[in-house]
Amino acid sequence: MRALQFSEYGGPEVLSVGEAPDPSPGPGQVRIRVRAASVNPVDWKIRGGFMAQGEPLEGLGTIGWDAAGVVDELGEGVTDVAVGDDVFGLGSATAAELAVLNAYARKPASIDWAVAAAAGVAAETSIRALDLVGVGAGSTVLVDGGAGGVGAVAVQIAVARGATVVATASEPNLGYLREIGATAIHYGDGLADRARAAAPGGFDAVFDVAGKTDAAVLTGLVSAPSQVVSIANFAATAAGAQVTSGGEGDPRAAMAETARLLEQNQLVIKVQTFPIDRAVEAFGISESGHVRGKLVLLP
Ligand SMILES: NC(=O)c1ccc[n+]([C@@H]2O[C@H](COP(=O)([O-])OP(=O)(O)OC[C@H]3O[C@@H](n4cnc5c(N)ncnc54)[C@H](OP(=O)(O)O)[C@@H]3O)[C@@H](O)[C@H]2O)c1
Repeated sequence: MRALQFSEYGGPEVLSVGEAPDPSPGPGQVRIRVRAASVNPVDWKIRGGFMAQGEPLEGLGTIGWDAAGVVDELGEGVTDVAVGDDVFGLGSATAAELAVLNAYARKPASIDWAVAAAAGVAAETSIRALDLVGVGAGSTVLVDGGAGGVGAVAVQIAVARGATVVATASEPNLGYLREIGATAIHYGDGLADRARAAAPGGFDAVFDVAGKTDAAVLTGLVSAPSQVVSIANFAATAAGAQVTSGGEGDPRAAMAETARLLEQNQLVIKVQTFPIDRAVEAFGISESGHVRGKLVLLP
């Protein structure tokens, strides 16, 4: 099968589409014929060698952590979907013709392949983080970095739960934040004052998506520092914030919740699609750090 891969760490130019062995689903997993797979910053952090701790790359590097497609093989014990069903969810090496998913849900018929693919990592991460700080009906939450892949999904999930959401972005994305239900403020110097003005009753929780704001500024907005959760600033624990990189929560339940939200139009994801042969372009945009919504590759 054709797959997006790299044989050395480096910039987007090390990516190429080449031949790879067909993957096989393990117990509880499904293999899909991929219709779309999204780009996540972790892809370029791995590809750039930023997570290799100086070790050289062994074998071929793969790309992709979520996808949508048609089930073409079932792993042992899978009974909730059948060959031919349309699904989306989380896996690995998903930027390929075939991929294995380990947490998946049925794709609502009304939802585009690219949108379903875009939902995987962004929604699982959002649900995990919002749950860690108990965001629900009546909460007031700040989402710092609200217009990108994870942020825009987190804003909408929090709104769907009945929370009041204040979110940050750069000037061109403030209108988009309002469109998806947040009170929009600029990030950068003066963020804490703008946030307090936007939520005079204070915040119950902060979701630090971008990892760019000093953690002490964010913990200063809540009554207990542990009501801040970061997915991108691993030093935030020093200020008492929670940090998550996976492991908590139930990814399968998260995909089921995501399917419901997509079907009910409570989660609408803006996507920009690229044929997989133009992955270098998509990664160039992702690495700029100013994505609106999600970038999606079509194999
Ligand atoms: N730990 C985990 O489990 C986990 C899971 C998924 C992602 N992540 C990490 O989370 C981060 C965000 O992922 P993503 O997919 O949402 O990335 P993305 O789609 O590239 O979005 C990045 C966002 O950051 C915003 N931003 C840039 N500079 C900022 C600043 N100074 N202050 C506040 N916001 C700023 C951008 O807003 P503008 O465009 O308006 O500038 C953009 O909306 C990445 O580092 C990713 O690796 C971690």
